[in-house]
Amino acid sequence: MTIAYRDEEMLRMVDPATGTVDRRMFAEQDLYELELERIFARAWNFIAHDSQIPNPGDFFMTFIGEDRVICVRDNDGNPQVLVNTCRHRGNAICRAEEGHATSFMCTYHGWTYDLKGALVGVPGFKEVYHEELDRENWGLIKAAQVETYKGFVFATMDPAAPTLGEFLGGVGRMGLDLIAERGDIQVVPGIQKYTIPCNWKLAVDNVYDYYHPQLSHASSTMSGYGFRRNATGNVATGDSSGLMRDHMVLLGDYGHGIGGPFSTPETDAAIAGNPGQDDSWRERPEAQKALGPAGIKSRGHPNIFPNLWVGSGPQVSLRHPKGPGITEIWWFTLIDPSKEAELYNTQKSRANHTFGPAGMLEQDDGENWGQSTRGMVGNVAQKFPLHYAMGKGHGEIIDDEGSPPRIETHVNEHAQFWFYRGWADWMAAPTWDDLRANRTPPPKDYA
Ligand code: FES
Ligand code: FE
Repeated sequence: MTIAYRDEEMLRMVDPATGTVDRRMFAEQDLYELELERIFARAWNFIAHDSQIPNPGDFFMTFIGEDRVICVRDNDGNPQVLVNTCRHRGNAICRAEEGHATSFMCTYHGWTYDLKGALVGVPGFKEVYHEELDRENWGLIKAAQVETYKGFVFATMDPAAPTLGEFLGGVGRMGLDLIAERGDIQVVPGIQKYTIPCNWKLAVDNVYDYYHPQLSHASSTMSGYGFRRNATGNVATGDSSGLMRDHMVLLGDYGHGIGGPFSTPETDAAIAGNPGQDDSWRERPEAQKALGPAGIKSRGHPNIFPNLWVGSGPQVSLRHPKGPGITEIWWFTLIDPSKEAELYNTQKSRANHTFGPAGMLEQDDGENWGQSTRGMVGNVAQKFPLHYAMGKGHGEIIDDEGSPPRIETHVNEHAQFWFYRGWADWMAAPTWDDLRANRTPPPKDYA
């Protein structure tokens, strides 16, 4: 097929020969708008966890790109994903961020929609519309497909998207299993939401960045945060001793990835006794079966493309785009409520003190992402790409039984660069069929 000039330009912004990335992708409004169309409106987006909407009528409001959507459980027990804009004049049909409803009535003129989005009430339908309004065609805009994976509800606006299973592939499923297999997890009430003045992709690529903690989070360490003992296995002393730790990277279809440390006697010893640390789930036969021999030992960070970070703690985070220079960060904490109360509370407290608006680490991170975003807008600076080639050509690919192929090496930027290669594939493809046919397959070597 012929790729239009504009689409070829997307591919040129991420250069596998040099491991570099074009700064314009973090700054330009038209590229941002294309991201909303070609990435967010097309991908399977994480919407909500089943435990947030246990009963018919329970709803949770979130975003697909900049489209505000309501995830509501209908009376058949299925999650529906409805765009929160009235078909009459566009007003919101729901103002609450979460709650319970039997229907959604727009407060402008009163059009009313049921839990599946059908238009069921129109004031003056007989008198002023003369019964000529075709209500069947004026229901809410809905997600084209909604599926749930182990309690995690996903939706895509694109009817041509493949199944959620195909989209996730082995690496995406493993990424979700790393939280879903911790037991009967449920969302701790209260989603933390706040804004950072940064491009959303910088927040995403940082999930794989184990080069920064020793320096960027040194202040957290100095103020007493137990970084030496956390699950990353990093040492925040300002020296480079953490950089040669064993790291494992898995690169999946469509831009998914997992990167970070894995369980070794050294990393296990580093986190032993860490308050709130609970590795007992790794002994569950179901978890071992789902994750396989490589996944069960991962202490790394998955990102489900485009913007769902599965933390090594009991949390997931969405990086919602709000413009090329603004990102809204959402944190969900998920813990099995059958855990002993003290452990539950310690895990919850630990989660809140690590990331989130009061988290020690994300304050450090957000400062960096904001300054990086600021550095992408200058006309002169934009002509110089960013370097994502750490470890390029290094690391052994291991392809054995029971796990997707993986690379084992030291701290590296394989997964960060893979995220941008995925970005280029999505941005260059006008349709899902095109993306399927022309996407970059996970690499077989790192030369
Ligand atoms: Fe919703 Fe008019 S805008 S009823
Ligand atoms: Fe960080």
